[in-house]
Amino acid sequence: MFDELPAYYGGKPIRESVLGYGSQSITDHEKKAVVDALDGDYITRGPTVEEFEDRVADFVGVDHAVATTSGTTALHLAGEAAGFSSGDEVITTPLTFASTAHAATYTGATPVFADIDPYRRTLDPEAVREQVTDDTEGLIPMYYGGHPPDIGAMLDIADEYDLTVIWDACHAFGGTWREEPIGAQRDMAMFSFHPVKNITTGEGGMVVTDDDELAERLRRLRSFDMNYDPEGHKDEPWYQVAEGLGYNYNFTEIQAALGLAQLDRIDEFKQRRDEIIAQYDEALEGISGVRTPPEPVESDPMYHLYAIEVSKDFGCDRKEFVNAMHAENIGVQVHYVPLHYHPYFQEEFGYERGQLPETEAVYDGLVSLPLHPEMSDTDVDDVITAVRQLAMYHQ
Ligand SMILES: Cc1ncc(COP(=O)(O)O)c(C=O)c1O
Repeated sequence: MFDELPAYYGGKPIRESVLGYGSQSITDHEKKAVVDALDGDYITRGPTVEEFEDRVADFVGVDHAVATTSGTTALHLAGEAAGFSSGDEVITTPLTFASTAHAATYTGATPVFADIDPYRRTLDPEAVREQVTDDTEGLIPMYYGGHPPDIGAMLDIADEYDLTVIWDACHAFGGTWREEPIGAQRDMAMFSFHPVKNITTGEGGMVVTDDDELAERLRRLRSFDMNYDPEGHKDEPWYQVAEGLGYNYNFTEIQAALGLAQLDRIDEFKQRRDEIIAQYDEALEGISGVRTPPEPVESDPMYHLYAIEVSKDFGCDRKEFVNAMHAENIGVQVHYVPLHYHPYFQEEFGYERGQLPETEAVYDGLVSLPLHPEMSDTDVDDVITAVRQLAMYHQ
């Protein structure tokens, strides 16, 4: 079966067209919803945005959902609503996208990176405890690939030190923990609706919370921190005033229509992701030098990523593995270059390579294989064949 040389070493690529690691799934259902939205009275934030927020709030089981222009702006609003500011420290994971830490940095607070639990690839509770100081105000755990961090331990730490928790659940929309939807845990959680995420609105994000005051703050900040009903407004109906430094992070009717139509398909998306994961797990488990993703702990996650770790037993390093998969036209990716490797965090906060050994060891092997609901069984087989062929070549 594998007489062929991998393409990277001179053989013919397994695929003619490139398979991306992630992709949206858009049908006529979504297209019609978007076109209908364009016929509405509003195309910026209006009743469809409220409907989408209500549907997400119901789905997650919380009182409030506040839609924003992206996951990044959702994090920004959450950090500001939490009241983070200069001099505060906010603990988060280094194995994430830069925006996670920006819930702190945008507010002037300092992001403090705690090392990860290498099994879950999420914050290690003990490492978090070691980073708590008198200046610690917040905690931002992140769901790597959709896999929950140790939620119970994070909540215990937050209680013990009176920290505001913002869950970066960008990868985790649609999953549950202890049969409770992910995002329902205090104080705020946020999602991204970028095209590769579990549902998409093109760009978009959402903060969810049960806290009335936080929700009010989030809504005000999203829209210029404008008081639309100040004293005097009744007599002078044009009178509206900015009471602070707000933003225009308004979500549109067009995005909301797309989001509602995607929500209708969430069970289908989860089912297909689960099927692909089961096929990968079965096919890859026995390959030496490949670690498959962790088993769910007390949860039924909706996985965004299928990230394996390639170790030296595989016979080639991660760089060669990635380039060899690309040569087969399989668009694997690495999530993520740890935040303490980035010049911004090094120059602003003095981080250096070598400071977070568990994160660095995991990072060295990480490769995300393609995972999205539009993948056919042939696409899945192509990925599996490419990994097996590469393993045979090296082992
Ligand atoms: C963990 C995590 N947090 C935040 C973001 C930012 O989301 P967005 O791209 O919607 O701004 C991303 C996006 O890739 C992410 O993966």
